[in-house]
Amino acid sequence: MKIGIIGAGNVGAALGKAWAKKEHQIIFGVRDTTAPKVQTLLALAGANTCAASVLDATNVDVIVLTVTWEAVPEVIQQIGDVSGKVLLDCTNPLVGNKLDASLDLGISGGEQVAAWLPHARVVKIFNTIGWETMENPQYGNEVATMFYAGDDVEAKQVAAKLASDIGFDPVDVGALSTAKFLETLAGFWGQLVYAQGMGRNIAWRLLKR
Ligand SMILES: NC(=O)c1ccc[n+]([C@@H]2O[C@H](COP(=O)([O-])OP(=O)(O)OC[C@H]3O[C@@H](n4cnc5c(N)ncnc54)[C@H](OP(=O)(O)O)[C@@H]3O)[C@@H](O)[C@H]2O)c1
Repeated sequence: MKIGIIGAGNVGAALGKAWAKKEHQIIFGVRDTTAPKVQTLLALAGANTCAASVLDATNVDVIVLTVTWEAVPEVIQQIGDVSGKVLLDCTNPLVGNKLDASLDLGISGGEQVAAWLPHARVVKIFNTIGWETMENPQYGNEVATMFYAGDDVEAKQVAAKLASDIGFDPVDVGALSTAKFLETLAGFWGQLVYAQGMGRNIAWRLLKR
């Protein structure tokens, strides 16, 4: 699959490297393709990866949004027509360490992204754990759960496949309106990591019987 990852920071790099290993074609959409950190990432990520403008990185099968929340409106201006495209929203609506106060109560960042891009098929995913787990979701004999939410059945199938390709156990939590739970879960992950001092190598596992 041809995947355009907008942003090549912690999350973009982790996902891009993991998918490239599974023979997906990765285009990192960045501000400066010649930046040393981008060149270092390409060298590490290997032959299935390249860097391009944000616009060129959206001419793909699946777009993956991995920029900081504050950058999302600006990036959306650059991505052109994404009608019918699957867009995986990995962001959390944080300004500093706080929830973006400009979001109306009850509206998640995922729904806000979908409102900004009404013709894209948005799936909220890869926002509930740290980038370290995106690089390696294996915890002993278990794999981490990857929760996702969205309104488009086919887009969710694509998201689930891309999560399982890199080792996660994908779990559908429902419509995009349930993205608010995933964003809260991300906040809870941060509480355990930072306030409780558990470190960033923790992840979720859904038990069923
Ligand atoms: N870090 C985690 O473990 C984690 C886990 C789950 C979800 N998230 C969420 O994922 C998102 C990314 O987190 P991160 O840790 O990967 O952030 P990061 O390391 O700071 O990377 C952010 C990326 O966004 C790019 N960017 C910023 N402003 C831009 C603009 N105006 N136009 C184009 N690109 C721009 C940056 O490019 P430059 O290098 O050019 O500045 C960089 O590649 C955030 O919303 C975060 O809440 C993070």
